[in-house]
Amino acid sequence: MTTDNELLRPHAEQLYAAELEALTRNDSSARPASWLLSPSAVVTYLLGGSLDDGTVITPKYIGPRRIMEVAVATLATDRALLLLGVPGTAKTWVSEHLSAAISGTSTLLVQGTAGTPEEAIRYGWNYARLIAEGPSTEALVPSPIMIAMQQGKIARLEELTRIPSDVQDALITILSEKTLPVPELGMEVQATKGFSVIATANDRDRGVNDLSSALRRRFNTVVLPLPASADEEVSIVTQRVAALGKTLELPDLPTAADEIRRVVTVFRELRSGVTEDGRAKVKTPSGTLSTAEAISVITHGIAMSAHFGDGVLRPADVAAGIAGAVIKDPSADAVVWTEYLESVVRERADWADFYRAARSALS
Ligand SMILES: Nc1ncnc2c1ncn2[C@@H]1O[C@H](COP(=O)(O)OP(=O)(O)OP(=O)(O)O)[C@@H](O)[C@H]1O
Ligand SMILES: [Mg+2]
Repeated sequence: MTTDNELLRPHAEQLYAAELEALTRNDSSARPASWLLSPSAVVTYLLGGSLDDGTVITPKYIGPRRIMEVAVATLATDRALLLLGVPGTAKTWVSEHLSAAISGTSTLLVQGTAGTPEEAIRYGWNYARLIAEGPSTEALVPSPIMIAMQQGKIARLEELTRIPSDVQDALITILSEKTLPVPELGMEVQATKGFSVIATANDRDRGVNDLSSALRRRFNTVVLPLPASADEEVSIVTQRVAALGKTLELPDLPTAADEIRRVVTVFRELRSGVTEDGRAKVKTPSGTLSTAEAISVITHGIAMSAHFGDGVLRPADVAAGIAGAVIKDPSADAVVWTEYLESVVRERADWADFYRAARSALS
């Protein structure tokens, strides 16, 4: 048996089992049918807080409370939830935590791709049994969505807009009638209370407008915004880096806070096309430079410094990672990055080390 702490990436419900248990114990508000927690306790789980018995709940999502309230309230109605936003705005992350807190499992998951077949949404067959015994409930292989319907749980559908539209249509009956017909067996599966779907979709992929209006009406769309301020983004990165570092068993390094601030500043300036003081315009690169990438750059820098450096997070440990995140298109983005280094970074007296490291990472 593997224990939870040997897992490379435990599920939210495993990692935060103690918090979820404490929330259940302290939760006196009404719960919708088959929910493990009340809606307000789910929001506390997501945003953090402290409970009556003193248990501290760590924040998972950093951002406006209202957005999480709308998301949770949606799941308590008969509409499904669509989390929409640019890459790296925690859509997948929030979907995992919501389903863990509400249903106790985040694993009823369908990954949407251009090749997602209808079976992934409805059901498939165990062909050996189908051929040997003919169609039977034993030969039927339920999709995660079918299981969620039967058990009254939340199913997750990642990257909804990547799924071909005829396959998306399979969702309409499920979401409007709350049933899934199985004509081969002359039966249907009716969803039990608690069933819902959380879908995620990315602004940069094929638009949400490509969703049929029939399907779009079954979802309540909640847009997850980019972090509102630099401070907010710094705190998201700091917190996630610390949590990831713990699972990856990376050491805490001195000066990580300075480098996090710098990476966030660089990302925000390039993203918005203007320097923090509002004085100078800068060109924006082709990629999104998401918060998620800032987290990876710092985590990678810490690994570099811990294993190959002097155990202090130095500009050189993050410079190559930043360049890699910025330069997605080798020609156009390299120009953007070089211009930014020369016109902005070089002018900042306290960024001299970073300027040198970034220049030498380029050559
Ligand atoms: N507002 C936020 N609060 C907490 N964590 C955040 C926030 N924004 C981003 N993150 C972190 O960023 C990482 C990536 O998020 P996630 O994979 O959920 O993004 P996504 O929106 O699904 O992106 P994609 O569109 O590329 O699938 C997660 O580790 C998450 O913790
Ligand atoms: Mg995602």
